[in-house]
Amino acid sequence: MFRMAKVTLIHTSQELQQFHEKLQEDSLSLGFVPTMGALHHGHLSLIEKSCEENDFTLVSIFVNPKQFNSSEDLAKYPRDLASDIHLLDGLQNCVVFAPSEADLYPANDGFIPMDLGSIGRVLEGAFRPGHFEGVVHVVHNLFRLVGANRAYFGQKDFQQLAIIRLLTKHYGFQTEIIACPTVRETSGLAMSSRNMRLSEQERKDALMIIEVLRHIASMKNKQTVQEALSESTALFSSGKLTLEYLAVVDPETLIELTDWQENQICCIAAHCGSVRLIDNLLF
Ligand code: PAF
Repeated sequence: MFRMAKVTLIHTSQELQQFHEKLQEDSLSLGFVPTMGALHHGHLSLIEKSCEENDFTLVSIFVNPKQFNSSEDLAKYPRDLASDIHLLDGLQNCVVFAPSEADLYPANDGFIPMDLGSIGRVLEGAFRPGHFEGVVHVVHNLFRLVGANRAYFGQKDFQQLAIIRLLTKHYGFQTEIIACPTVRETSGLAMSSRNMRLSEQERKDALMIIEVLRHIASMKNKQTVQEALSESTALFSSGKLTLEYLAVVDPETLIELTDWQENQICCIAAHCGSVRLIDNLLF
C-alpha cells in the first residue's frame, strides 16, 4: 500500500493529480484541511481528526487574496511555510499542498459565482464585503482539485462553515463537511493565526471577547436578549477593544433573535489594536 512516513510538500495541481491517482489505485480515503497557513493548535486539531478518520490528509496552505477586503490586512497576514511544515512533523500520510495563485486560479477556471442569500449578507458579510465571495471561489477551486472524501472546518468561523455547507450542496461536491469545535488557549482566547500579531498586553485585552460571550450566555432566560446585549456591550466598552458587532442569532439562518431559543449563537467581531478578531459561543 502507498504510504508516506513524513510530511510531503507539493506545489502544483499536476502533482496533486498524480497523488490523487495513487490514492484511487489503492482505494484510499482522503481528508482535506484547507488553511491559509500560520498553522496553530486549532489547525492541528482539524488535521489530527482528519488523520484519524482518513487514510491520507491533505493540508492546503494558500493565503487567498480574493477573500481580503483590505490590502493592508492581506499584506500583514502571517506567512511562514517552513514553520508550518515543521509543526506537522511526525504526522504520517500527510501532504501539504501550497499552490501558486496562477495554479489555483487559472484563466477561465469555470467558476460560476453563487448567490449566498441572506447568510452571506449578515455579520461578517455586512462588515467585509466580498469576503465570502472570495472564500467560495477558493474553496470551490480547491474542492474541485482535491476531490476529498471529507473536509474539516473550525466552528470559530461559524458563518464560513454555514457558507461552505451551502456551496458544497450548490456545486454538488461529494465531500462531507466535518465541523470541529473551536480550540481555545487556557485563558479562553480562541486560537487564530491573527493572534500572532497581538502583543502580550493585547492578548490580555482580547480576553474581553470570551468574557462578554460567556456573560451573554449566563443571561439566557434571565433577561431579554436585548437587555443581555446592552449590558454586555457596556461591559465590552469598559475594556480596550473596539466592537464591530455583537449579535445573538439563530444557528441555522443567522437571523438576529429577539427571544431566547433552545440553541442560539452569539457572534462577535472586534479590533484589538490593529488586529481584527472574531469569536462565537453556541448556547
Ligand atoms: O478559514 C480559512 O482559513 C480560509 O477562509 C479558507 C477556508 C482556508 C479559505 O481560504
